Amino acid sequence: MRVDDVTLIARWDEDPAVLAALGGRAMDWWDWAVEVDRDLAWRELMIAEEAGRAIGFVQLTDAHEEESQYWGAVEPGTWTIDIWIGAPGDRGRGLGAQLMTTVVERCFNVHGASQILIDPMVTNRRAIAFYERLAFEPVGERDFDGDRCLVMRLVRGSTSS
Ligand SMILES: CC(C)(COP(=O)(O)OP(=O)(O)OC[C@H]1O[C@@H](n2cnc3c(N)ncnc32)[C@H](O)[C@@H]1OP(=O)(O)O)[C@@H](O)C(=O)NCCC(=O)NCCS
Repeated sequence: MRVDDVTLIARWDEDPAVLAALGGRAMDWWDWAVEVDRDLAWRELMIAEEAGRAIGFVQLTDAHEEESQYWGAVEPGTWTIDIWIGAPGDRGRGLGAQLMTTVVERCFNVHGASQILIDPMVTNRRAIAFYERLAFEPVGERDFDGDRCLVMRLVRGSTSS
């Protein structure tokens, strides 16, 4: 992701499904222009493209090393994924599944993760079904910043990755 891409985050924040999934606007998370320019071993911010056209966002985070300790105490080697496909016409075409497969492999094979956690809101039933199809298993419900989420986990070696 580059600083020019921050406008994509702002545009996708207007999408009702993205807004509902995030429980608010990604633009309120932090100062994106600053964050994009930071070179951190514990995080990657990425824009996904289909044939050169931006279609979505992915954040990979080493939850054990991440500075705000959003996830609390987690074992070393725990990475987390945030993902959204920005426009309705780009969803339900298999792009999200392709993207998840790619970034799951990246967490395990490039970052050496031992497990991956995700935290869809409990109301986001379609996303939960999507993650279950990708072999993520429910761990339990948890509040994150006032949002009720289902923590789901994929352990290294539990799939072909
Ligand atoms: C969840 C998401 C990344 C899946 O990517 P995708 O490209 O739509 O998924 P695929 O085409 O590979 O698979 C389709 C499945 O995704 C899930 N899905 C979740 N939200 C969806 C949406 N708004 N539209 C279509 N499919 C969605 C469903 O399980 C769907 O299967 P179904 O049609 O049988 O219900 C994407 O739909 C998205 O970004 N949704 C809005 C934001 C969001 O929920 N992000 C996840 C936050 S934890």
